Amino acid sequence: MREIRKRNSKSIRRMFDSLSERYDLVNDLLSLGMHRLWKRKLVHCIPADTKGRWLDLATGTGDLALMIQRRFGVKVEVVGVDYAPRMLDRAKEKSRAHFGDSSPIRWILADSINLPFPDQSLVGISVSFGLRNFSDRAKAFQEMKRVLKKGAHVLILEFGNPIDPNHSDSWIKRAILTAVAWWTVRLGAVLSGRKKYYQYLQLSSDAFPGPDGLRLEVTKYCGWRERECLRLWPGNVFLYHWEV
Ligand SMILES: C[S@@+](CC[C@H](N)C(=O)[O-])C[C@H]1O[C@@H](n2cnc3c(N)ncnc32)[C@H](O)[C@@H]1O
Repeated sequence: MREIRKRNSKSIRRMFDSLSERYDLVNDLLSLGMHRLWKRKLVHCIPADTKGRWLDLATGTGDLALMIQRRFGVKVEVVGVDYAPRMLDRAKEKSRAHFGDSSPIRWILADSINLPFPDQSLVGISVSFGLRNFSDRAKAFQEMKRVLKKGAHVLILEFGNPIDPNHSDSWIKRAILTAVAWWTVRLGAVLSGRKKYYQYLQLSSDAFPGPDGLRLEVTKYCGWRERECLRLWPGNVFLYHWEV
């Protein structure tokens, strides 16, 4: 079982490395730029008086880490962590283009199940579209719990099954969301040249628990207090906010 998990984890990392060149472009085209609005919404949920070290986990090409740093300036020391080196290279390039050689953001290559931070040293963690990819989510949650201070904030953006029966959507909305998912896979495959990733995107989104399932996991592994759970337009993205 452990070996299967390790192999999965490696192949997911390789997949993101191979996508890194076109990741931002394809993200913008497929979401029609909406991923920036979803991320902006997350950044504005971080309390204005936040001070200290903030981790953007599974930072990828670093958009969210850059937005957090821009909002808080020197009050918050942002650290971007990802386990795919080529995704992090893109993040470093963007950070240099924005801040020059004295980028205040630290970029660290590490796995979510083994974070290079002391116990209770962080004031917050954000994860956008990363949680779904963690091969061992239970361990990742336990590791997040270990490094967070009391009173810290956890903000997670993630896809959820758009045709979750728990949501009382009209049949028209369900049909539109199903069509969006169908097109995302096909268009993403053409734009990126990586058909497998966009098949994986759909499968992993469908398999990811909705709000009820994720609440159960967080209660079991972390015991954090839920502040908010928002379903963002067009309905297949959720923003979760917990307080430690
Ligand atoms: C879909 S991308 C999201 C990137 C970025 N947060 C965004 O919103 O655009 C998922 C990222 O999670 C990273 N990732 C997946 N599993 C990971 C793990 N176990 N530890 C660290 N990073 C991981 C991948 O390398 C990839 O960069």
